Amino acid sequence: MKEIKKIAVLTSGGDAPGMNAALRAVVRTAIFNHLEVYGVRFGFLGLVNNDIFKMETTTVSNIIQRGGTILKTARCEEFKTREARKMAFDNLTQLGIDALILIGGDGTFNGGKIFSNEYKMPIIGIPGTIDNDIAGTDYTIGFDTAVNTAVEAIDKIRDTADAHNRLFIVEVMGRDSGYIALHSGIACGAEDILIPEETTDMEAVLDRINEDKKRKKLVNIIVVAEGDDFGGAFELQKRIKERFPEIDARSTVLGHIQRGGAPSYFDRVQASKLGYEAVNALLDGKQNVMIGWRKRKIVFTALEKATKQNAPMSKELLKMAKILSS
Ligand code: F6P
Repeated sequence: MKEIKKIAVLTSGGDAPGMNAALRAVVRTAIFNHLEVYGVRFGFLGLVNNDIFKMETTTVSNIIQRGGTILKTARCEEFKTREARKMAFDNLTQLGIDALILIGGDGTFNGGKIFSNEYKMPIIGIPGTIDNDIAGTDYTIGFDTAVNTAVEAIDKIRDTADAHNRLFIVEVMGRDSGYIALHSGIACGAEDILIPEETTDMEAVLDRINEDKKRKKLVNIIVVAEGDDFGGAFELQKRIKERFPEIDARSTVLGHIQRGGAPSYFDRVQASKLGYEAVNALLDGKQNVMIGWRKRKIVFTALEKATKQNAPMSKELLKMAKILSS
């Protein structure tokens, strides 16, 4: 295998708090090991457009505490074409780059897998998405911060729900994944949690509200993931009002506040470890794998297996959430 001397790093897909911490770790570990490091702006788009620049240890100063990504990010449709990938490869070759580190979600790893197959470019993926929905790792960078943001917001909503005896439906992020909904819902004692991984039985939701009414339960919080099959918060609100016109049901969509903000301590530390170990893995000859965490250990998963389709949702946690909110 060719000796690795120059690497490039990019962030791609939805940004996640802690991506900067991972980037800082990658850059400084690489330089410590006498590698040259290049940053790519706007994810795969920057590879295609040759938006690539040399990074130094100082380029990543003062970023560990910052949300977003200093490299910027994009969801690049263009990279799905062979022509764009060829341009990307030519740009990398011109700079003499030997390997890539990709920080992102399963769309990012899918792009990486295709690229590495076509051009034999060694790649290490680092899981960064608030959705925590990637097979091969128990944790993705940003999830902890996003859940904490959701929890803080839902707690505030509970105060006003309690003051008015209102029912609130809070919609959290997760187009395909219910992790944020499940974890924030458990942490906030939500009466119901609706997620894309489970078909929503609306009649059961309404019956439960009826039960709570009979028991004179005063606060009622339903957390719904944006990708739930029944629809989002407003659809639920409409349906609840149809059946219980007397209930003051309100909706709140938390939206992108869950993606921003300073990363939690946990995200900073985990992202630092993943960034550090990703460079070590490349130097050890690993390639075309995603680095992840399983049972408190660093593990590697082939890029093609690091998809959201393979990511299991814990049935036990779902069951627990139901029991604890009864
Ligand atoms: O990055 C993950 C995520 O925040 C999902 O939870 C959400 O469904 C999606 O991205 C929204 O993406 P965008 O900001 O590109 O609309």
